[in-house]
Amino acid sequence: MKLAIGCDHGGFELKEEILKFIKTVANIQVSDMGPAAKESVDYPDFGAKVSEAVAKGAMDRGILICGTGIGMSIVANRFPNVRAALCHDHFTAQMSREHNDANVLVMGERVIGKGVALEIVKTWLDTQFAGGRHQKRLDKIHEIEKSINK
Ligand code: RB5
Repeated sequence: MKLAIGCDHGGFELKEEILKFIKTVANIQVSDMGPAAKESVDYPDFGAKVSEAVAKGAMDRGILICGTGIGMSIVANRFPNVRAALCHDHFTAQMSREHNDANVLVMGERVIGKGVALEIVKTWLDTQFAGGRHQKRLDKIHEIEKSINK
């Protein structure tokens, strides 16, 4: 799996922790899309880099972190084919994969602690999309996306 990760200054420390963890997971090729240091940056710049890579298929999945996760979610969900889920716990991480086939995970470093964040990442990476009735709903999202981008 090719996975891109990005953040702003509000999510920088958590990005570094997640990177350390992901590098220990087999079969994941991780690409750090920045920033490289904790200076103040604008979340749309880094949210767009990761989301564009997922939208174009250059990356299979993305992880985005800002202070609350809200700004990054707003940015990511503007990109076609991106289903970004702001997750705060194990349950939302599991459901975002099983029901929504989320391909971008978003978290807020100022909202959750490192332990919960790493649990979310593990769950999100390990959980498969359930398909079935949920696929029909994703197809409807795709149809909406096509109709508003005409
Ligand atoms: C940065 O201060 C903060 O606004 C940002 O990280 C994020 O929480 C925006 O939604």
